[in-house]
Amino acid sequence: MSTLITNIAELVTNAPDEEGSGPGPFSAIADAALVIQDENVAWVGPASRAPAADHRVDCAGGGVLPGFVDSHAHLVFAGERSAEFAARMAGVPYRAGGIRTTVAATREASDGLLRTNIARLAQEMLRQGTTTLECKSGYGLTVADERRSVALAGEITSEVTFLGAHVVPPEFEADPAGYLSLVCGPMLAACAPHARWIDVFCERGAFGADEARAVLAAGRAAGLTPRVHANQLGPGPGVQVAVEAGAASADHCTYLSDADIDALAARTTVATLLPGVEFSTRHPYPDARRLLDAGATVALATDCNPGSCFTSSMALCIALAVREMRMTTQEAVWAATGGGAHALRRHDVGYLSPGARADLVLLDAPSHTYLAYRPGVPLVAAVWRRGELAAGYAPTT
Ligand code: NIG
Ligand code: FE
Repeated sequence: MSTLITNIAELVTNAPDEEGSGPGPFSAIADAALVIQDENVAWVGPASRAPAADHRVDCAGGGVLPGFVDSHAHLVFAGERSAEFAARMAGVPYRAGGIRTTVAATREASDGLLRTNIARLAQEMLRQGTTTLECKSGYGLTVADERRSVALAGEITSEVTFLGAHVVPPEFEADPAGYLSLVCGPMLAACAPHARWIDVFCERGAFGADEARAVLAAGRAAGLTPRVHANQLGPGPGVQVAVEAGAASADHCTYLSDADIDALAARTTVATLLPGVEFSTRHPYPDARRLLDAGATVALATDCNPGSCFTSSMALCIALAVREMRMTTQEAVWAATGGGAHALRRHDVGYLSPGARADLVLLDAPSHTYLAYRPGVPLVAAVWRRGELAAGYAPTT
């Protein structure tokens, strides 16, 4: 079945340099149309030259962009930490140890409750235009609880990350080396069949450089690809560890040295910035301008989690990146689509050209700029995922 989506004021394509190579740099077509054939994009171009199709959607001058690729989220959890947030806004600093509150609630929760929570957040993301999402474990921290976390995450996405090395749980307080052995041994063995990625929170109060290296090496030996929580709460070795390990992405990148910037610019590791975290923890925003000017690849993601940042809105991240991190509107929208695809090493999403997956967002606004120009306004009118209308409303004839 084919569908012509037409009367698009601006179609953001991020067209690749060559077919099948994944998202290219930001690019857009004015007065455009797009044809979906089954699950994929079959044609894009000027509306005046659009071919016929079985069905037709008139966008009435709205803008269309690739579905957002949220490459960093922690959706497997129970409970909430609004009191911690309120205390933070009254001056209490954010600490990694807050994760243990959610670990306790998650261990208590039934599979059914966790499944309901994940599905609700995934649906919330979809309604806001996120068509690809990554989901981490990390609030179980026992073999059984981590295994069920990655298995449940796998029910909603293929981008599952094992994050047993989130923090040392309370029962291992006196024996962090013992916990590391558990993570790199039986816990990894139980989780690897359900995951694509291995992650570690490399930070003071969580895991140091050598511990992080050990986790990533074990993960790699089990067939997983590294990504790292790096330089979130202060300067540290996380980015260097990520780059050395050939990680797909170093996430947060809030406190970077010149050497960190140089390392990210020189290698393929994507710098994934999570500005909702700085919003919710009152830390300074990462210096996106320095990264971009140095030539690093930058992605934007939500980090949706109950502690450091409980937003699922990629549009909010775009608005913050533009207003607070001196990214242009084009850079921010690219980072939330093509950048996320690069961070997940995906060649099928984050762009809209023939062969790409037909994941697209119709805005109730004429261009991508409105995502930052009208912050906080729900501008997503309709979302197609794998060629099907998955959220919102679009009149089809
Ligand atoms: O990405 N940094 C580590 N993990 C999460 C925070 C989790 C929490 O506070 O519960 C993050 O910010
Ligand atoms: Fe995170």
